[in-house]
Amino acid sequence: MNTQEVISQFNQYVIGNYGRLPRVITRGEGNYLYDLDGNKILDFFPGWAVSGIGHCHPMVVEAIRRQAGELLHIDNTFYTIQQGHLAKLLSERAFGGKSFFCNSGAEANEAALKLARKYNVGKKRYKFITAERSFHGRTFAAVTATAQPKYHEGFMPLMAGFEYVPFNDIDALTQVFSDEVCGVLIEPIQGEGGVREATPEYLQTIRDLCDESGALMILDEVQTGMGRTGRWFGYQHYEVVPDIITLAKTLGGGVAIGAMVAKPEIASALVPGTHASTFGGNPLACAASIATIEAIESEKLIDNAVRMGQYATEKLNALKQKFPIIRELRGKGLMIGIELTVPGGTIISKCLERGLRINCTQGNILRFMPSMTIRAEEIDQAIDILSSVLETEG
Ligand SMILES: Cc1ncc(COP(=O)(O)O)c(C=O)c1O
Repeated sequence: MNTQEVISQFNQYVIGNYGRLPRVITRGEGNYLYDLDGNKILDFFPGWAVSGIGHCHPMVVEAIRRQAGELLHIDNTFYTIQQGHLAKLLSERAFGGKSFFCNSGAEANEAALKLARKYNVGKKRYKFITAERSFHGRTFAAVTATAQPKYHEGFMPLMAGFEYVPFNDIDALTQVFSDEVCGVLIEPIQGEGGVREATPEYLQTIRDLCDESGALMILDEVQTGMGRTGRWFGYQHYEVVPDIITLAKTLGGGVAIGAMVAKPEIASALVPGTHASTFGGNPLACAASIATIEAIESEKLIDNAVRMGQYATEKLNALKQKFPIIRELRGKGLMIGIELTVPGGTIISKCLERGLRINCTQGNILRFMPSMTIRAEEIDQAIDILSSVLETEG
């Protein structure tokens, strides 16, 4: 089949709920994608942050091969070595928490919201506070938590019990907060909302309000988790410890897995029969995730994210001096947002034509989020392509 035939087949048989780029990807290796027409693409937004240690990392591929020959799936009626091992690795890195496994970021947030309600049963706390421009996923609770009207259109009525506040606005948060709140759900760095970091004072205020009232502080680390920002988790850049974090994306190194990690005393509210996922924590996904964590550690990829994040930021700052359409650079480690004074859609299309894949969110914010295995030469290459495209944009 050629590219046009594949696209025609999609048009006929696949629901058109995604805006797709006109490329058929056949292979991924490290920081490169290969398409059906033989093009090689430098990937600076690998799998929307899923392939955070590059495409088909050899340690992950080997772990999957090994596990596939032993046991692909077993339901949660039984124990497995892999699920327990992965939970231990996460606990050692995140506040001694206990894990519930699922298959995506939205499901991890669903689990966190359900746990917050369950933990608060019998008290009058039931409300959630989330932030404007947040993104938490597309299932009903997760999309309700996602305080962006464009994701709500056509799906009313949403779930009851959610209140929205402007991100980083301490006064607004304090005003809305009441003894009816059971949880505050926030991204430590908003991703889809435009790579915006929470201020330390904001996260501290959430922590204090939750401590005073008994509500839970839930951090959505689906995009910030697993090392990309230069720490295992985004909250570790701050002085606060949340009650729950949610993970997905890079957690599986390319395989679908999500997790909710909760402090043990809170996690104990989920007793048998309260919550479940058939595929959650299956041995294949857990083996991939364990190998991902081992790769991050053995290849010192978090240090690389810090170093390469600094390197890329220096290079991008130089571009900012040259091109006035770059208004601002934001982010931590390898989670970098480039806010433009103009729409970014044509810029990302032109970058792709020249062999670089980046993303644009909120209309004018480019996301520069390569994998943690990225090297300086690849950043140079990406900057050269972006620069040549910006030349054409003025
Ligand atoms: C911060 C954040 N939370 C949740 C999600 C939803 O994850 P999933 O698409 O795996 O359900 C995303 C996806 O982009 C995200 O960026």
